[in-house]
Amino acid sequence: ALVVRHRMRSSGRWARAMEILKELEENCATPIGKLRQVADAMTVEMLAGLASEGGSKLKMLISYVDNLPKGDETGLFYALDLGGTNFRVLRVQLGGKGGRVVKQEFEEVSIPPNLMVGSSSELFDFIAAALAKFVASEGEEFHLPVGRQRELGFTFSFPVKQTSISSGTLIKWTKGFAINGTVGEDVVAELTKAIERQGLDMRVTALVNDTIGTLAGGRYYDNDVVAAVILGTGTNAAYVEHAQAIPKWHGLLPKSGKMVINMEWGNFRSSHLPITEYDQALDAESLNPGEQIFEKLISGMYLGEIVRRVLLKMAEEAALFGDSIPPKLEVQFILRTPDMSAMHHDTSSDLRVVGTKLKDILGISNTSLKTRKLVVKVCDIIAKRGARLAAAGILGVLKKQGRDTALRDGSDMQRTVIAMDGGLYEHYTIFSNCLETTLREMLGEEATASIVIKLASDGSGIGAALLAASHSQYLELEES
Ligand code: GLC
Repeated sequence: ALVVRHRMRSSGRWARAMEILKELEENCATPIGKLRQVADAMTVEMLAGLASEGGSKLKMLISYVDNLPKGDETGLFYALDLGGTNFRVLRVQLGGKGGRVVKQEFEEVSIPPNLMVGSSSELFDFIAAALAKFVASEGEEFHLPVGRQRELGFTFSFPVKQTSISSGTLIKWTKGFAINGTVGEDVVAELTKAIERQGLDMRVTALVNDTIGTLAGGRYYDNDVVAAVILGTGTNAAYVEHAQAIPKWHGLLPKSGKMVINMEWGNFRSSHLPITEYDQALDAESLNPGEQIFEKLISGMYLGEIVRRVLLKMAEEAALFGDSIPPKLEVQFILRTPDMSAMHHDTSSDLRVVGTKLKDILGISNTSLKTRKLVVKVCDIIAKRGARLAAAGILGVLKKQGRDTALRDGSDMQRTVIAMDGGLYEHYTIFSNCLETTLREMLGEEATASIVIKLASDGSGIGAALLAASHSQYLELEES
């Protein structure tokens, strides 16, 4: 193949690159008809996942959250957010209806990559140490009544089979985490042990997924929030379901009649999904082959990696970057989605940013404008496929909730608000714009008018603190 590549004339090379591009475009196509099929398949899988344990690829996990924040929560609460490349610790003084968030502080710590694939106790010790340090810096503006233990909402953004609001076992790792011995364990017990090892006196009163935290945080500020979507390193959604519509739930019917469901939609899979050879190879070589297929088409952890794989093929078969293959282009996950986004948003006439990124990240210098344009085109195809599929997912949830058409509440239009969080949505403008346009296109004008996507940056931290508050061990004491 090497020899052939050498002999390929430059016009032949370019033609081959165009062929690969055209094929990519065709295989990634997401016409509205296809997206509707994806949305319908999502709704069908939701029903199957609610019907029975293991009934679907969609786990439709019961969160044990049957009441969302009302605004009357009071006191000092902590939250800890683990699930992406960073983790956060937060404290908030809640002032009840009048005061709301009196004061909040947070700290963000990036997780050393070796801890993501190390041992369970190492990871939890690292987190608990950061938490202890943060607690030690608590100022006088925060008030903990005498004799009380500090309480924590733990946002753990992986699939967990909850056994109560404050306990649950890890089903599997996702998003590049692969730690031995944690699957099947109660993550609150793990964290609690690590907290004790730090000599910290603190109790976990709520264990939530980031989607649940975002939903709770969103509802605190807006009563019409009924679903939450995360588009970050991973992707997922949660929504408010009627408890009676969950056949697999054998517990008592909650007073509210509602139950929040963590869909784990990242694991959604359907024959309608546009899957290419690049996606198949990415999946096969991933830490979790066969799992999280929807996530691998959409989320921040993977978009840049898909682009890298396409460019590598163009380098191999069309000598896009010269006669030899740039060695760095062969390194998995070297092209991160924020860098892809920077190239995609390059508005300079000579695509300067694209040139710099190719050089700095992949060691490819002296690219022609034509080549840079091609790179941008690849980013465009991959980002828009992801954004459009995410929009289809959202439509599927709205359908399940019966909110995909304009609803009237007497004479008023009923608002539907989706709380959104995640760096992909927040920072990749072309992605988020495309998602919104696509959703509008599928919903039609009338329904669009009543459906709002609201960015709730780090809503999950405050949401977890709020749920810790509404499940505080001291609550009954206060109420009586
Ligand atoms: C992954 C996790 C899921 C989380 C999502 C977004 O899909 O499995 O629990 O909500 O990422 O962080």
